[in-house]
Amino acid sequence: MPRTVLVTGATSGIGRVAAERLGERGWRVLVHGRNRERGERVVDAIESAGSEAVFHRADFADVDAVRNLAATVREEPRLDALVNNAALSVNEYREAEGVELTLAVNHLAPYLLTHELLPLLRESAPARVVVTASGVHFRGEIDPENLSMPDYDALDAYARSKLANVLFAVELASRLDPAAVTANAYHPGFVPDTGLYRDSSLPVRLATRLASLVPGVGTSTAAGADGLVYLTDADDVADVTGAYFARREREEPDSRAHDTGLRERLWDVSADLVGVDPDWP
Ligand SMILES: NC(=O)c1ccc[n+]([C@@H]2O[C@H](COP(=O)([O-])OP(=O)(O)OC[C@H]3O[C@@H](n4cnc5c(N)ncnc54)[C@H](OP(=O)(O)O)[C@@H]3O)[C@@H](O)[C@H]2O)c1
Repeated sequence: MPRTVLVTGATSGIGRVAAERLGERGWRVLVHGRNRERGERVVDAIESAGSEAVFHRADFADVDAVRNLAATVREEPRLDALVNNAALSVNEYREAEGVELTLAVNHLAPYLLTHELLPLLRESAPARVVVTASGVHFRGEIDPENLSMPDYDALDAYARSKLANVLFAVELASRLDPAAVTANAYHPGFVPDTGLYRDSSLPVRLATRLASLVPGVGTSTAAGADGLVYLTDADDVADVTGAYFARREREEPDSRAHDTGLRERLWDVSADLVGVDPDWP
């Protein structure tokens, strides 16, 4: 049975390329996203390269869809890696089940998915969890006791969700036996050619387009995906846990990643919001 990885957000951008590269390396790839047509194209590409792949559709704005995805994945005989990569940024304030949408999709969904899949990851040990965060987490502000966002700003919401990703990855690592499951956060660089900026306001889309034309500013989608593949597959990082990587380089995250009180408060509030016992794993 080949090593198996679930890559969320694998229908587009760095997740798509990472899924295809992992397939080339012989992994069985569970391709997740919302867009079935693009998902099936990724599956076809992986199968053409000689590996196994299956598409799973789930909208992370829907907690039940996350639970159903996890239930389907739990039917797999093994899960060696979970790449929590799916994310969005939305221009206008929206909610998913009472929570600001960006936080719900980018943080609460992977929190719940990891909770649901951790038993299978442990059974498949040594296993890895990789969380695609972002360098934007440095400018994020988060108060776990007050997650409302009355003066909505798309970048603030996105940065907050990405700070939550870093806090979650570090807290998860601190709760796990690293010999069984590691957890790390990842920053791919500024990758202007992905779909992330698709729904941004016109000024953001223009700024992104312009920035992508400046030599040395942007990272290619392939280079952004490379670090994801590295953290999922490379032997050199098999024992590394609780770390933050920018591409293949280990870097220091924001100092709040070391604030255990903040991490625990976010953990407990997240558990409450998705309806699980906070005392996990
Ligand atoms: N691009 C950058 O400059 C940059 C920089 C730092 C970090 N990142 C991070 O890199 C990761 C990948 O982003 P990307 O740049 O490759 O963007 P992308 O091309 O837009 O890919 C995002 C993926 O997430 C999925 N997704 C979005 N909303 C979803 C939802 N509600 N439910 C389920 N899946 C959903 C999309 O699926 P569908 O298309 O099928 O809906 C797609 O597969 C994200 O975590 C992002 O925060 C990106």
